[in-house]
Amino acid sequence: MSAPTRLLIHGASGRMGQALLRLCEDNPACAVVAAVTQRSPAQRVVDGVPFFAASELAAVPAFDVAIDFSLPAGFDALLELCRKRGVALVSGTTGLDEAQRLALAAAATRIPLVWASNFSLGVAVLAELVERAAAALPGWDVDVVEAHHAQKKDAPSGTALTLGEGAASHGAKVAYASLRAGDIVGEHTVQFTGLGERLELVHRAGSRDIFARGALHAALRLVGRPPAAYRIRDLLD
Ligand SMILES: NC(=O)c1ccc[n+]([C@@H]2O[C@H](COP(=O)([O-])OP(=O)(O)OC[C@H]3O[C@@H](n4cnc5c(N)ncnc54)[C@H](OP(=O)(O)O)[C@@H]3O)[C@@H](O)[C@H]2O)c1
Repeated sequence: MSAPTRLLIHGASGRMGQALLRLCEDNPACAVVAAVTQRSPAQRVVDGVPFFAASELAAVPAFDVAIDFSLPAGFDALLELCRKRGVALVSGTTGLDEAQRLALAAAATRIPLVWASNFSLGVAVLAELVERAAAALPGWDVDVVEAHHAQKKDAPSGTALTLGEGAASHGAKVAYASLRAGDIVGEHTVQFTGLGERLELVHRAGSRDIFARGALHAALRLVGRPPAAYRIRDLLD
């Protein structure tokens, strides 16, 4: 059996970081060698995983790939570490500014990386299906309808916009509708309407764990690839 992939989890005390630590515990293909949080960790080792404060990032042991679900304020230091050490990066941190996006694109000439606003594998496949349908159904009306929990502020969701852009890249004019209600984790419907017929492609997220699972899936497939900015759909097989 080959050695497990060594992971650094950045944002390890957060909701996504905790989900990743849980998933890695049950997966012999990976070993978390560093868990990084913004604040100084209360305990140095938790369940065999060494914890580090963000200020100690330069001192973390060797790792094969970093998985980052943190905040934009911590992103630059992690990107620089991955670039310097020549290791892969998977990031789902949202709210990056223009300079950070440019730095990410520049780093992709040196290391393999993937950044995505939605790490669900189902949504990655949905995006492919939407593009295929838009190419095959020119002139049809395309509507993206999304529903999320009542606390979500932005609308349409970043995922809805990405799906719509995929259809628009094949010439479709896309309209959006957003619902905010209760505790809905996330639902996206892309509806193609022609004369006398309608096609609906639907994805429903039941748990936030799907994003952690998708990020881990991407991380394990990114290691050893040539430097580039990959999409999740490039890493599905
Ligand atoms: N792409 C996707 O599929 C997807 C899905 C879900 C969430 N997200 C994004 O993932 C990120 C995290 O979400 P979450 O719900 O897990 O957030 P959260 O529960 O608020 O956790 C944030 C984590 O980031 C750490 N952190 C904050 N500032 C930092 C810094 N300057 N340097 C290093 N670490 C820092 C925090 O450490 P402390 O606890 O020490 O403060 C904590 O571990 C957000 O950007 C969110 O939008 C993306």
